[in-house]
Amino acid sequence: MPKKDSSSTRKTTLNSQPRIHQRAPEIQGYGQVLHALPLELDEPVRLEMTEQLNILLADTMTLRDLYKKSHWQVAGPTFYQLHLLYDKHYEEQSELVDTIAERIQLLGGVSIAMAHDVADTTRIERPPRGREEVPVQISRLLDAHQLILGHCRKLARRADELGDDGTNDMVISDVLRRNELQVWFISEHLVDMPLVHAEDVGSRKVG
Ligand SMILES: [Fe+2]
Repeated sequence: MPKKDSSSTRKTTLNSQPRIHQRAPEIQGYGQVLHALPLELDEPVRLEMTEQLNILLADTMTLRDLYKKSHWQVAGPTFYQLHLLYDKHYEEQSELVDTIAERIQLLGGVSIAMAHDVADTTRIERPPRGREEVPVQISRLLDAHQLILGHCRKLARRADELGDDGTNDMVISDVLRRNELQVWFISEHLVDMPLVHAEDVGSRKVG
């Protein structure tokens, strides 16, 4: 007797209900580098680079959010100018977040993503929830940039030593250069310049 083709006799019940509330074990744990794309980079290199990049990512996400906090909470006569500038820098930092996170993933790692994990990892000082005056906002932003820039220089050198040219290039060309430029733009707001009356030439001291 010929076998029945089970596929032709199976009853299919169509159901439009989405299968919600699903949970399952992780497919990759944080801190592991599992999938090895054909990148010609050994696992220990990818492990060290992804660890360092996750710290850079957490700090960059924190700086991004510090810009948005400053954008919302800024006060004073330079409100409009700083409101726009802070948001521009926020957008640029958001792009860097994506660039760093996707570098971690392509190296076989797992990118930090959620706010509580970012808070556990970042080295940037936590600001208060309330509003602060402009010089304090800018000082906090500059401190955060300084920390990131110092890390970028060390990380880029280490990536170069390990032969990870892609990470070296991304850290220098994208992260370091963008942070340097933002430092210039905001630090100029802390130069004490008269707005209306130029100082008397006779009493001016330069330096
Ligand atoms: Fe806005």
